[in-house]
Amino acid sequence: MIRIKDLDFEVSIRHNEIEDSISNIAERMNQDYEDKCPLLLAILNGSFIFAADLVRHLTFEHEIQFAKFSSYQGTESTGNVKELIGLNVDITDRDVIIVEDIIDTGKTMSTLLANLKDRGARSIEIATLLMKPEKLTVDLDVKYCAIEIPNDFIVGYGLDYDGLGRQYPDIYTVISHKED
Ligand code: IMP
Ligand code: MG
Repeated sequence: MIRIKDLDFEVSIRHNEIEDSISNIAERMNQDYEDKCPLLLAILNGSFIFAADLVRHLTFEHEIQFAKFSSYQGTESTGNVKELIGLNVDITDRDVIIVEDIIDTGKTMSTLLANLKDRGARSIEIATLLMKPEKLTVDLDVKYCAIEIPNDFIVGYGLDYDGLGRQYPDIYTVISHKED
């Protein structure tokens, strides 16, 4: 068990299970991209460990770029607008693979897809380490999902609680919430 700030977590997915699941999606990607040279677009911060482990299973040529969402406080009518920063590569006619840590409601991924759509990519696919299918509120075609999980909050293997806990090799699920 680990404690981060006010929350207790217990191990829910061991590192070797994570490794096996990543190697499974990598095998499928190796078939699908055999003669291509896609651009992997890894979304910071959460995907840095997943991306590092994933690429070491890939047998096709590829490039990798890391980009990040920056949230701006918009006007009352537009709400919170997210903009992709750090993608300084021309993706015209490229096969793009978005590499994400987790898809929860799917809103982040939808925003990203909308952002990339107008940039002329040949294809865009999604590779995510984790997905909470029951929480999905948008229509998303996720081609490569390593592990599907229930609705609980998790940390470890790149994922954080309030900026902490990304370093753990295993994934932990929250077990209690102390109200103050
Ligand atoms: P979505 O837009 O609801 O799909 O949220 C996706 C983002 O929320 C992820 O990129 C994570 O940063 C964060 N997130 C969602 N669920 C969890 C979780 O269980 N633990 C840590 N971060 C999470
Ligand atoms: Mg993320």
